[in-house]
Amino acid sequence: LLDRAELAPADPILGLTEAYNSDDRPQKVNLGVGVYLDESGKVPLLDCVRTAQQRLAADAKPIGYLGIDGMPAYREAVRGLVFGEESAVLADGRVVTVQSLGGTGGLKVGADLLRQLHPSATVLISNPSWENHRALFTRAGFRVDSYRYYEPALKGIDVDAMLADLRSAEAGTIVLLHACCHNPTGYDLTPEQWDDVIAVLRERDLMPFLDMAYQGFGFGVEEDGAVVRKFVESGLSFFLATSFSKSFSLYGERIGSLSVVTGSADEAKRVLSQLKICIRTNYSNPPTQGAALVTTVLGDRELRATWESELAGMRDRIKKLRRKLVSGLEGRGIGDMCFIQEQLGMFSYSGLTSEQMIRLRQEFGIYGTDAGRMCVAALNDRNVDYVADAIAAVRH
Ligand code: LMR
Repeated sequence: LLDRAELAPADPILGLTEAYNSDDRPQKVNLGVGVYLDESGKVPLLDCVRTAQQRLAADAKPIGYLGIDGMPAYREAVRGLVFGEESAVLADGRVVTVQSLGGTGGLKVGADLLRQLHPSATVLISNPSWENHRALFTRAGFRVDSYRYYEPALKGIDVDAMLADLRSAEAGTIVLLHACCHNPTGYDLTPEQWDDVIAVLRERDLMPFLDMAYQGFGFGVEEDGAVVRKFVESGLSFFLATSFSKSFSLYGERIGSLSVVTGSADEAKRVLSQLKICIRTNYSNPPTQGAALVTTVLGDRELRATWESELAGMRDRIKKLRRKLVSGLEGRGIGDMCFIQEQLGMFSYSGLTSEQMIRLRQEFGIYGTDAGRMCVAALNDRNVDYVADAIAAVRH
């Protein structure tokens, strides 16, 4: 049987980390995976998380099973953060929230439920999108297609094309949308454009699935979360996957959530019962530590303020790194990449070709995706000139 297994290609993102790890050139730089690194090139342990770890350690508890849908206090904390403490839709009992294994886990559990409810639906993802969106929804059994989004000639979003593609989608189509800090392009819709998108989703009876893995990396926690509130106000039912991997620097804890905003409290109850089956048959119930850390921080006024300022620190530093890279490139005669400063989140969609990205990897040990995505959150004062030199070399 096992001889039927074909050798699969490496993962387009995590495969780069594997290649980077086995590269022994000291000057190598991993701009592949979306991970924020501090000035010393390390994944930071946020002060708020360190304090939460210490508090939890000082009050060590036995580790029993969580419920299938996760830690209740964690779910409440996430709902408050994402929908707002006073949200009427929460009070009405119309929102189901489950703890998930990172944002990816939320997407997969949501995909499994959708597949059960509407097996023949098509999933539309943006062109381009996070590499794993297509793979994940395909693996869940869907036909995955794309709607137009990024237009290289505009160095931005072709909203008219996007709206036209959504308008021609069949009723019941699932539309994957990036709530903020679009991955990989870093270009987000304006609030007015979101209104137009929401109008088409409603008109065409499409099912939105929001992916919000980078809340706080665009303009702020509130600002980036505003899109979710817009969807709530629209009265549409929708799915929302969120993650604390990046915003809490808790990558390895796999801590995220899936919420489903339904039409009624009764519907919510039925949806939750089905989600629980999806979770139970995949991994039974989620782990405790990440949820305990996030709950401790969000539930404590002081720690939450520390978190917001540490998150702002990461956000502002990424913006500085963008400026540094652009001025480094300008100093090397590359004057047409200043768009890097306008992009939001961890990534720069550089416009470099796959040949140029491969040269960066082979000749310089600089790893970014073949599609030209580079994680600017992994730059620092020591490697930014080297990266600018290398980009200039492959561009000339
Ligand atoms: C990324 O896009 O690099 C991150 O979301 C990490 C991942 O799992 O791909």
